Amino acid sequence: MTSWRMAPNLELNQLVDRRNAAGADILNLAFGESRLPLLASLAALLSAAAYQTTYGPVAGTQAVRDAGARYFARRGLPTDAGQVVVAPGSKPILEAIQFAVDGDVLLPKPCWNSYAPQARLAGKVPISVPITHLYGGVPDPSALRAAIRTARARRLDPRLLICTVPDTPTGTVASPDLVRAICEVVEDEDLILVSDEIYRDTIHDTRTPFLSPAELIPDRTVVTTGLSKSLALGGWRIGLARFPAGERGERILTGVISVASEMWSTLARPMQEAADYAFGDPPEVRQRLSASARLHGAVARALHSVLVDAGAQCRPPTGAFYVYPDFEPLRTPLATLGVTDSRTLQKFLFDEYDIAVFAGHLLGDDSEALRFRAATSMLYGWTREEQETALSSADPVSLPHIRKSLTRIADAMADLRSRCFAETAI
Ligand SMILES: Cc1ncc(COP(=O)(O)O)c(C=O)c1O
Repeated sequence: MTSWRMAPNLELNQLVDRRNAAGADILNLAFGESRLPLLASLAALLSAAAYQTTYGPVAGTQAVRDAGARYFARRGLPTDAGQVVVAPGSKPILEAIQFAVDGDVLLPKPCWNSYAPQARLAGKVPISVPITHLYGGVPDPSALRAAIRTARARRLDPRLLICTVPDTPTGTVASPDLVRAICEVVEDEDLILVSDEIYRDTIHDTRTPFLSPAELIPDRTVVTTGLSKSLALGGWRIGLARFPAGERGERILTGVISVASEMWSTLARPMQEAADYAFGDPPEVRQRLSASARLHGAVARALHSVLVDAGAQCRPPTGAFYVYPDFEPLRTPLATLGVTDSRTLQKFLFDEYDIAVFAGHLLGDDSEALRFRAATSMLYGWTREEQETALSSADPVSLPHIRKSLTRIADAMADLRSRCFAETAI
């Protein structure tokens, strides 16, 4: 029997929750959950929809598929409702796509931790391709061409590429030029591209314009998204996908619907009502999306500064709520503390400072690299009041509860530096 392990991000989050419930005070930067309050309109809508207890169509009701189609159209992708599917989260849609498309899967290195296990669940081989030094979420185009050649020489069959735009773990948005270069490879090599755009509405630095691969190669690109990140509704499990128009897209969509019909049947009706409302772009949602993006940006930039000041290299964050520092410049002094790779770096921060981060090797990165992902989305406050204040503040980083967490991280980094340089001096 194959032994499977729980997704390490969920495992670590549960450990932190258990320890904190038992009285510890662990600062959780390891989990990509957005802690923001529920919109009042969504709460009212959900309770009114509670009586909708029947199953519905597997792909979603006509109303929610229409709302999804209009959502994509507003984001530059004219869409027919028939191309749209809703599901309990984008995670099962991503898995279903892996079942529906033959061949092996190309992934950026590093990338979201579930793509590779999902590939293995679907009987595929995940093939990692390094990202560039500027942006995450998409592979370096020339490395991608080389990886495809090498994979085929090894009798692998790469047919699917998954990109994350904007990206976790790096918190960056691939530039239009890079997206264009990747799309060229996808066309030349006859691949299907999944553009995971779950962080599309969290972009906080718009100086680099966003370009979806689906704008360039619409007949080869499936777009997935959802409300887990943008509206902080992770536990409500609302995912959305847009399949290409035409024969190729229909084939993938039919495969996904078949998998869905055997695995989750349909998205719960009350959640479809919530999705219909939220994807309909009412002013309250629009206002929340822009306030959240502003907050994500302010806190991510502040954490980026703390880590760069500590000596790490780090891509400046432009989307989502992550930073991905690289402590390579401190490799020699860190080794004196027994920190030699991403596992020991994560453990050291956890054991010595009660700070949980997510080690790079768990995201498919080189295990010897000194990289981790830090999410800023849990720093917005514990009470609804703190979170509302953070959302409406012109300078959230100066709020006492956010400042306290950032100071705690800065103090830990200062202590880490002084300990490593004290050891080196001996
Ligand atoms: C890049 C990425 N894609 C997909 C998901 C899945 O989200 P959900 O299933 O909640 O839609 C996540 C969640 O962490 C993610 O970070």
